[in-house]
Amino acid sequence: MQGQALPGFRDFYPDELALRNYIFATWREVARRYAFQEYDGPPLEPLELFTEKSGAEIEQQLYAFEDKGGRKVALRPEMTPTLARMVAAHAQALKKPIRWFSIPQLFRYERQQRGRLREHFQLNMDIIGEASPLADAELIAAAVDMMRAFGLGPQDVQARVSDRRVLRTLLVGGGLTESQLPAAFDAIDKSERVPQDALAEVLAKGGLASHQASVVFEVASLRSIDGVSAALAKVKGGEEAGESIRTAVEALRAMGLGEFVSVDLTIVRGLAYYTGIVFELFDTGKKLRAICGGGRYDGLLKALGGVDLPALGFGMGDVVLGELLRERAPADQASTQLDAFLIAVSGEDVAPVLTLAHELRDRGVAVEYGLRPAAIRKQLELAAARGALRAVIVGPDERADGAVVVRDLKAGTEERVPMAKLLHGFFH
Ligand code: HAM
Repeated sequence: MQGQALPGFRDFYPDELALRNYIFATWREVARRYAFQEYDGPPLEPLELFTEKSGAEIEQQLYAFEDKGGRKVALRPEMTPTLARMVAAHAQALKKPIRWFSIPQLFRYERQQRGRLREHFQLNMDIIGEASPLADAELIAAAVDMMRAFGLGPQDVQARVSDRRVLRTLLVGGGLTESQLPAAFDAIDKSERVPQDALAEVLAKGGLASHQASVVFEVASLRSIDGVSAALAKVKGGEEAGESIRTAVEALRAMGLGEFVSVDLTIVRGLAYYTGIVFELFDTGKKLRAICGGGRYDGLLKALGGVDLPALGFGMGDVVLGELLRERAPADQASTQLDAFLIAVSGEDVAPVLTLAHELRDRGVAVEYGLRPAAIRKQLELAAARGALRAVIVGPDERADGAVVVRDLKAGTEERVPMAKLLHGFFH
């Protein structure tokens, strides 16, 4: 027998599953408030769905194999291509804008490190069929409100917002050619992690002259909407290219979320399909990897399903978020709450305990009792170890009177409670 799960895969012991359930419940609650509907798709997909659309980085990380029917298949590494396919197949029938969310488990063969595993759960929220930047603002707001629902404030997390159209316009306006853009985007994406001289070398290898490399570094250093606007004012098409990000940032301010949002042109995002606003959420200490990332992908539905619909969305993983929550917000992550542990005083009380347990469970009360005869002390020990709020002691004398003894295990107090009261209204 193997002693451990595969590297990068998790066993969820009850405490860990309680945290996961708490994360999912919070995600679902905020998604409900934003009027998003939940959907799901298959965890296994045709391989080409991902090789064609996700981009080189994800392609290398695929869990891919041939099934018994000779089909090339892959475990889903992300949800967006599946969503695009599903929507494209029923595009006519669906009322736009579509507001859908999902919580898929995803699989990527990555090098395991802090915050990166080979499976994770990822909240996806996407809006399809809306080109207005208010949709971008709505999604960034939803991601931020997820954080607020976990008790995290602007001192804990920041949304860093950029726009690939702005980057493109500034770079081309600064003298780069279309064919140099991929190398420039790549350098900007890495600019926080890799020192500038190393990046300059990479750019030189990518065919950029040193004045072009300076343009790349200047663009990557822009950190405010005013700075971006000023830079755009100097280049052709700049006014138009900046409209979306300006509107989205203003909308976020109007929502009262301005403190959570910073404009930061180093955000590019690794996936190939993004076309407009892109954003990521980070812990302010920047100790962890991105909590969430997303953006606009206006060309993907056309490429996958032949329907030309603008689209945007984000993915928020449970791994980094879980680390942050364990560190900062000891919120209500309780697993099952045991309302009562029933205790049989003698062998004759076992059957009445079984009857009572089932009557209480039918009324929605969480109840446990010892599954083998044991001394009262032993039963009380188990009750305490389970974190039960009360012990309900069923003994011959009380039973003769139609009552039980209820011991409050926190306070240590006891009271005699008539059976009728116990069943009607005592617990709720
Ligand atoms: P992504 O940036 O690849 O985007 O992933 C989004 C988030 O999922 C990351 O910020 C991170 O929290 C989490 N995540 C990704 N990979 C791992 C991993 N190996 N281990 C743990 N957590 C991970 C996407 O997947 C896009 N499809 C999101 C999207 C939806 N864009 C538009 N709609």
